[in-house]
Amino acid sequence: MNQIRLRMMMAVVACSLFAGSVLAADGRLRAANGIVFEEFRGYESWPAVAPSKPADGLKMVLGNPIMIESYRSGFPGNGSFVPDGAVLVKIAWSEKKSDTAPAPTNVPDALRRIQFMVKDSKRFPTTGGWGYAQFNYDSKTKTFSVFGSEASFVNACHDCHTRVKARDFVFTDFPTR
Ligand code: HEC
Repeated sequence: MNQIRLRMMMAVVACSLFAGSVLAADGRLRAANGIVFEEFRGYESWPAVAPSKPADGLKMVLGNPIMIESYRSGFPGNGSFVPDGAVLVKIAWSEKKSDTAPAPTNVPDALRRIQFMVKDSKRFPTTGGWGYAQFNYDSKTKTFSVFGSEASFVNACHDCHTRVKARDFVFTDFPTR
């Protein structure tokens, strides 16, 4: 490959990094800290941990089988820590009034973003063993893009999650069902 082509390719990569939408060479969505969307294949059908209702939409937290087992065995009430391999996902939607429910009821509207936390103490030693990633969804083009142009985006995630350090940085409880 000659110098000019190499420089052009580097410019393309730099532009896509700047836009915050980073497609790896293999066409996968890769966050700036190396987490790839495909690592969480199948998350859509993981069990629900709990919904939450912030001012501006609806959210649902799901957990992979390792995370659900951790809740079953008493986390976070028993002071235990989440084992490596556990994953939590938070899906955020805008909300709308239900067209069908007889009483006023809000339901999910457009998908907005998906956030992940994956526990891997060797890979993410500086953030309590948790790797953070966020992928934003554009419902017009039906495509995801990477949130955070530099790996330091995780600092904001981790700073806030440090409020619940005593619960291994996890906010959400597993309510009775
Ligand atoms: C200002 C505080 C704050 C910041 C910043 C923040 N979070 Fe959270 N996060 C929360 C709260 C509070 C919850 C509990 C669920 C809810 O109320 O939405 C939560 C829940 C989660 C969950 C579900 C597991 C749990 O802890 O309950 C994931 C996954 C998650 N956040 C990922 C991220 C990622 C990735 C980032 C950064 C891109 C991030 N968060 C930034 C406050 C924050």
